Amino acid sequence: MSRHGDSRSLYLGLISGTSVDSIDAALIDFNAGRLELRACLSHPWSNPIRQQILALAQDETALDLDAFGRLDVEIAHGFADAALEVLKQSDTPAHVVRAIGSHGQTLRHRPAGKYPFTLQLGDPSVIAERCRIDVIADFRRADIAAGGQGAPLLPALHAMLLGEKGLGRVVLNLGGIANITVLAPDGRVSGFDTGPANGLLDAWCLRHRGEPFDRNGGFAATGKVDARLLDALLTDDYFALPPPKSTGREHFHLRWLSKHLTPGQQTPADVQATLLELTARSVTEAIARHAPETREILACGGGVHNVRLMQRLRELLAPRVLCSTADYGIDPDFLEATAFAWLARQRLLGLPGNLPAVTGARGPRVLGAIYSAPDTD
Ligand SMILES: Nc1ncnc2c1ncn2[C@@H]1O[C@H](COP(=O)(O)OP(=O)(O)O)[C@@H](O)[C@H]1O
Ligand SMILES: [Mg+2]
Repeated sequence: MSRHGDSRSLYLGLISGTSVDSIDAALIDFNAGRLELRACLSHPWSNPIRQQILALAQDETALDLDAFGRLDVEIAHGFADAALEVLKQSDTPAHVVRAIGSHGQTLRHRPAGKYPFTLQLGDPSVIAERCRIDVIADFRRADIAAGGQGAPLLPALHAMLLGEKGLGRVVLNLGGIANITVLAPDGRVSGFDTGPANGLLDAWCLRHRGEPFDRNGGFAATGKVDARLLDALLTDDYFALPPPKSTGREHFHLRWLSKHLTPGQQTPADVQATLLELTARSVTEAIARHAPETREILACGGGVHNVRLMQRLRELLAPRVLCSTADYGIDPDFLEATAFAWLARQRLLGLPGNLPAVTGARGPRVLGAIYSAPDTD
């Protein structure tokens, strides 16, 4: 197939978020300006590599350069496995896919300071070689180089899919970190990370229950919110910081939590209940402060399955309405992977992927670099 005037409309998006639960793959058809989810799957990480990524992302362990290089390639193989699996399951030959948009796995995100940076692993050349599809990767650094946060990158797609003139909406992504996209009634788009979500809930649950996540908030339900602990956690400077802002596991991790715990004061279940309340409160306060015209909140990300968290958010956000993007025909578990398919397409069309009003970058930037598939050999 000719690389010039390429008419292929299939793109594959890949991401593993800050929860490090799985690599999500979404095969998207951008036909005639519409966007159709053709196939999707979540490819779980094996426990040892998940533990290694989590320990590194939380700055709990140091890594020598050799181990770092190996991890970059090991993560890439996980991403390639996920891509090949979705192609196989959907009976899609590689040559009909125009490109893969691979976010990689974030190990560090430090958008502030003299030398701001963000670091995603998962060598794109390995993915291109194994899948025999062009790979677009490294989506965040051009925005950071332009003085932006490099995040969030989802708002442009949220606006395209869910913006409704005249109606104040927020798209709430409940991933390891929570972020909001504010779709104002006048069509303006803004957005930022509100703070922790599943990342801390997962980490505390793993430590005290040995389970990777607190299914439906069942563990939290056995405890009581500790008001003093909650207030102490909410005094963290991040919550009051004006946007643009973004954060990650290098800030909100268990050592951050431990600094505020008083030994013998709370049971593990109380802490879990307090962390759930922290997520619900910080999200609600961010919406009240920065999106006062909001009538409807559309949630996506793994947190939509946490019945207790959704219930608590619903109570705090009332009278605003909280629902799932599923109610608008959008699978809440694959919106992020879809965004990276869209970002890959933007790159090949030479169009910007960031929204400067969201990230704070000096201007719109074409995001990502192209790693070409090998010619047939
Ligand atoms: N039934 C459920 N109950 C509670 N939490 C859930 C449930 N299903 C998924 N999750 C949460 O969603 C997380 C994955 O969400 P995801 O959107 O993939 O986050 P990320 O983008 O950070 O990877 C899991 O780690 C878990 O905490
Ligand atoms: Mg995930």
